[in-house]
Amino acid sequence: MSETFYITTPIYYVNDAPHIGHSYTTIAADVLARYHRLQGRDVFFLTGTDENASKVAAAAAERGVEPQQHCDEFCAHFRSLWQELNISNDDFIRTTEPRHTRRVQSIVQQLLDRDQIYLGKYEGWYDPGQEEFVTELAAREHDYTSAISGRPLVRYAEPSYFFKLTAWTDRLLGHIQAHPEFIQPTSRRNEVVSKVTAGVEDLCISRSSLDWGVVMPNDPGHRVYVWIDALSNYLTALGLPEIGDEHDGESAKYWPADVHLIGKDILWFHTVYWPCMLMALQVELPRTVFAHGWWTSEGKKMSKSLGNFISREVIAEICRDYSRDVFRYFLLREVPFGQDGDFSRQALKTRYNTELANDLGNLLSRSLKMIGLYFDAAVPSPQARALEGEPAKFLAEPVERIAAETPALMAGCRFSEYLRVVLELAAATNRCIDATGPFRLAKDPAQRERLGTILYGCAEAVRIVLSCLEPFMPEKAAAGLAQLGLSGRDAEPLRERVKWGRLVPGTAVAASGPLFPRRQ
Ligand code: MSP
Repeated sequence: MSETFYITTPIYYVNDAPHIGHSYTTIAADVLARYHRLQGRDVFFLTGTDENASKVAAAAAERGVEPQQHCDEFCAHFRSLWQELNISNDDFIRTTEPRHTRRVQSIVQQLLDRDQIYLGKYEGWYDPGQEEFVTELAAREHDYTSAISGRPLVRYAEPSYFFKLTAWTDRLLGHIQAHPEFIQPTSRRNEVVSKVTAGVEDLCISRSSLDWGVVMPNDPGHRVYVWIDALSNYLTALGLPEIGDEHDGESAKYWPADVHLIGKDILWFHTVYWPCMLMALQVELPRTVFAHGWWTSEGKKMSKSLGNFISREVIAEICRDYSRDVFRYFLLREVPFGQDGDFSRQALKTRYNTELANDLGNLLSRSLKMIGLYFDAAVPSPQARALEGEPAKFLAEPVERIAAETPALMAGCRFSEYLRVVLELAAATNRCIDATGPFRLAKDPAQRERLGTILYGCAEAVRIVLSCLEPFMPEKAAAGLAQLGLSGRDAEPLRERVKWGRLVPGTAVAASGPLFPRRQ
């Protein structure tokens, strides 16, 4: 049986339509899912929508439609954007589905049975945008406005059920200490540790003033707090816990999750509430929670009124203009994953022209052109299939780095560096062509073997580069490989495919126009 790999995105609120921020997490998760599938792992990639939030009900009310109808419409926006971006999720969970709501009730019931929940009264601040309870201290710090949106906090007082979060925080700190990979990047781990160490309070997990959301199993007058409901999706989508329906345990083998990918704004929920809940339920903890940074646009915080909002429509336009693969590539190449970054048209164009059009696209075109002219469009035979001789001088090091470094870079979600290491092979191959001058060698019949070795090296290097790019740019990689005469799917794991010498001499190449036409 192959090793499993379970990757999740946050489930997105359906109060509004998706934008670049949602796409970012989902594309990153898709890259990881595709990468691990290419390595031969049994991957489960989950995304979905968070529908039971009070802000979702408020958005529906504002539009004058029923909450469920609103959810259906906005959920469809997310689903279709993921199709447009070629997202390969294995499941899509909606928190209004019975397979989820029934399991949330079962989870809450288990916590009740384990004496982890008590009835109290919540009196304090709430950030409706974040669906988050805010302590007096934190509220005061931001002048009683949301630290995220800047909008005013609301105050309410009502009877509520509480989860005994404080009973678990010492164990949580122990786990974080013992598992440095649990919260990434390290700066985020430090942030969580200091905040937990400063002290937490028990967590309010129900609202009695709402009529939208999962009903508390023990008290129909209360709805389950949306974050308890939402975080549970990572288990419920697997058919866990078992409740006696047709979904029971259907994908249970994937737990614990290998990576929960999230944005930095929802770190606390995923690294404190969620693991403490799981510990209270005696369920194994996810291996890693990785929090990425936020995008600004053209140097400013994205806003509809500023006109710099990268909405679904703008994404579609960029994809039409450059292709969806280029959009995917840009997001993960431009900014080291974990840091904040800025989206700008100029940056997109520059990166496209330098790395994709000049380095990679041009390398493919010139290699194919020369193989066409000098070897009748069939990959020439090198002096040796091993990486030796002239190409080795230029290519041995970058080829070796790809094999040695890319697995760890992917494991650490260091996408930008992965791409840099991979593209370094394309740059080195261009240098090899410039230095050896195959077009001059072609004029001298005595140099034929040398020429064949160099051009074999070019084609083989492009094959390795394109293979490594597959998770990021599945269509461009396939199109490029097809030009190299490799149109069927190579079933070997990627770690085998990056080895030198797999390209078979004699393979018929078929140039068919530039993969990344240069932009003016
Ligand atoms: N519903 C919750 C998540 C529940 S998971 C159990 C939620 N949804 S959300 O729709 O508001 O946001 C989802 C993700 O989008 C977050 O990871 C957030 O960081 C990300 N982004 C929202 N705006 C963003 C940017 N401008 N840039 C990058 N990511 C951003 O939170």
